[in-house]
Amino acid sequence: MTRSLLILNGPNLNLLGTRQPEVYGTTTLKDVENLCLDKAKDLGIEIEFAQSNHEGSLIDMMHAARGKHVGVILNAGAYTHTSVALMDAISSIMLPVIELHLSNIHAREAFRQTSYISKVCIGQICGFGAAGYPLAMQALIDYVGDKA
Ligand code: DQA
Repeated sequence: MTRSLLILNGPNLNLLGTRQPEVYGTTTLKDVENLCLDKAKDLGIEIEFAQSNHEGSLIDMMHAARGKHVGVILNAGAYTHTSVALMDAISSIMLPVIELHLSNIHAREAFRQTSYISKVCIGQICGFGAAGYPLAMQALIDYVGDKA
């Protein structure tokens, strides 16, 4: 069976391309999805690419990943810094999750340097803009190896 990854984007990431381009660049979320589709072809895998501005919807999509995907790449946006519920969802689904950010959150405001989800993710990729997504896909597929 072809392996599949869920690539999930949180609040305000639908506005990529026009949102604070000095921080996030001019790449749109559609461009990011296309990058991921190219990488998926290289890896011989499938992806589901999604975005929501709602914490509960993100949690529902994480739950629905069980039995369907071998892992999740999560750019939780600002919920990274606030959401115990999202942290619990990651702990509950028994799937490897990579935390992803376009910007280097460690070099930004102090409140962005706290991540509730880091503790329960297998790793974090941040600071490489859209290029971080295919990097995360490679890392996650290498991580799951023959396990899935
Ligand atoms: C972000 C970083 C978060 O601090 C911010 O709230 C975002 C985007 C990133 O991709 O750099 O919405 O997750």
